[in-house]
Amino acid sequence: MNTILVGLQWGDEGKGKIIDYLCLKEDVIVRFQGGNNAGHTVVVNGEKFIFHLIPSGILRKGKICVIGSGVVIDPKVLIQEITSLKSKGVAISPRNLKISPFCHIIMPYHGLMDSLREKKRIQKIGTTKRGIGPCYVDRVSRCGIRLVDFISPGVFSRKLKSNLDDKNNTLRKIYGFKEFSFRNMYNEYKRLAKVLKPYMCDLVDYFYKKNRGGFLFEGAQGTFLDVDFGTYPFVTSSSVISSNALLGSGLSFVKIDKIIGVAKAYSTRVGEGPFPTELKGKYSEYFRNKGTEFGATTGRPRRCGWLDLVLVKRAVILNKITELVITKLDVLDGLQKIKVCIEYKYRGKKLKKFPYDLENITPIYKDFKGWNKKTNPSRKFSDLPKEAREYVEFIESFLGVKAGFISVGEKREAILKR
Ligand code: IMP
Repeated sequence: MNTILVGLQWGDEGKGKIIDYLCLKEDVIVRFQGGNNAGHTVVVNGEKFIFHLIPSGILRKGKICVIGSGVVIDPKVLIQEITSLKSKGVAISPRNLKISPFCHIIMPYHGLMDSLREKKRIQKIGTTKRGIGPCYVDRVSRCGIRLVDFISPGVFSRKLKSNLDDKNNTLRKIYGFKEFSFRNMYNEYKRLAKVLKPYMCDLVDYFYKKNRGGFLFEGAQGTFLDVDFGTYPFVTSSSVISSNALLGSGLSFVKIDKIIGVAKAYSTRVGEGPFPTELKGKYSEYFRNKGTEFGATTGRPRRCGWLDLVLVKRAVILNKITELVITKLDVLDGLQKIKVCIEYKYRGKKLKKFPYDLENITPIYKDFKGWNKKTNPSRKFSDLPKEAREYVEFIESFLGVKAGFISVGEKREAILKR
């Protein structure tokens, strides 16, 4: 089976745990976009692993993890992640971690530009300040440094010099900032390039020749952070939807069998931007505390709200979802009433189609009766309280897609198959 897995909301849907489960069956796990703005958490035997760049499949023996060309790499973060995983006993070598030569490298000026631009903006985006946007800007401006450039000292030196001329100029003139020293940066990053060099692999050649199956494409962020189809401009700088999986990895010869969409049983968002079902006050606190809704990358408190099925339905269509996964159902345990958005209103009128902009949208809710029993110990759908089953069944019928899995806790085993 070749599968793509994507988030159907604003990221943080709990994809890491599902990937950890699904990759039991698949051989190759592929990241195809984003960078270390992402943070996937997996809990194994009480130990928490947070992944920013390496696919979480690395925890499973015998799997190959791939970082595709659509990913932007901060070498310091990647090396730190490799070192930290190795120190926890996880085996990582060029045999099980392969990186595309065409990944773009995030340099210190990208992170700085990200922070400075954000500070200057009147309308903030709330970026993770990891340099993601500025690195993608350099990619399309054709001045970026790719992994293949980075590991070749001559090319790296030439490209870095020319980039620093330009960046230092902007930093000094527009932001009044101190310039970066070419020598210091070159010397420091040349050492990092040496560490990453053995992991570089022509993915197309390697996988085409091997004619391997069992690919799992692991999306980062979520549909409404997509640079084109998300809540622009409050989005990330890459295409996060399923149609980018093959483009962002270069593995276009892989035939996709399944597209899995992950949705949380409620909604969250980090950063700025419209969020029709957002809750303020005690309900929001409830979700934040019970669901540990703090960014895995930045630690920022996530904004929380009810499940928005109008939004998720749009994501199901955009990604051509064939199977659904519902996560964090247990967070709803103990609520007397649960609300789900099933229609949108704009200026008092019900909308017949999905709006171009989610600003000033009013949600129309359907109320569900909550349940008092803990769902966490459930391992079969029939173990769930009747009201929880009704909640899941309503989601499935509204979206027209069956839920293959339901997650009821952060532990690896807290998952039930439908
Ligand atoms: P950037 O990707 O750092 O440029 O941030 C752009 C927007 O995407 C901000 O609102 C971030 O909070 C959000 N974002 C980026 N990555 C993630 C993620 O992995 N989960 C949730 N939100 C994210």
